[in-house]
Amino acid sequence: MPIVHITRRERFSAAHKLSRADWTPEQNYATFGKCSNPNWHGHNYVLWVTVSGEPSTETSFVTDLSALSRLIKEHVLDHLDHKNIDLDVPFMKGRYSSTENLAVAIWEQLEAPVKALGVSLRTVKVEETENNYVEYHGER
Ligand code: NI
Repeated sequence: MPIVHITRRERFSAAHKLSRADWTPEQNYATFGKCSNPNWHGHNYVLWVTVSGEPSTETSFVTDLSALSRLIKEHVLDHLDHKNIDLDVPFMKGRYSSTENLAVAIWEQLEAPVKALGVSLRTVKVEETENNYVEYHGER
């Protein structure tokens, strides 16, 4: 049977700040740019979740996309949307709020629930601005 990849797009808005407490404001600005603003700032993130599986012989679908959407909402968006990533999000505790770390943390949130849906998690893609995105494929 063919294995087909299918992707769901979701969006969330959240505040964050990237800075190291052991660096000066100048060092932080030089490395993290506007994302080091001491009084926080926000992004309108776009999240793409790709799963794969065999199309059902009954429906021809890889999975129920509304079920996948509900799962992403429950395990990811409800925790992130309109929150402060550095202060409010349990699964980001102790990690810098870079897009890289967000993609890895979102993968960890979704891997088991997606498996329970009967498909495999393939890619978590997080877009912070329209010019940059990060992908995580579960590799270590
Ligand atoms: Ni930022």
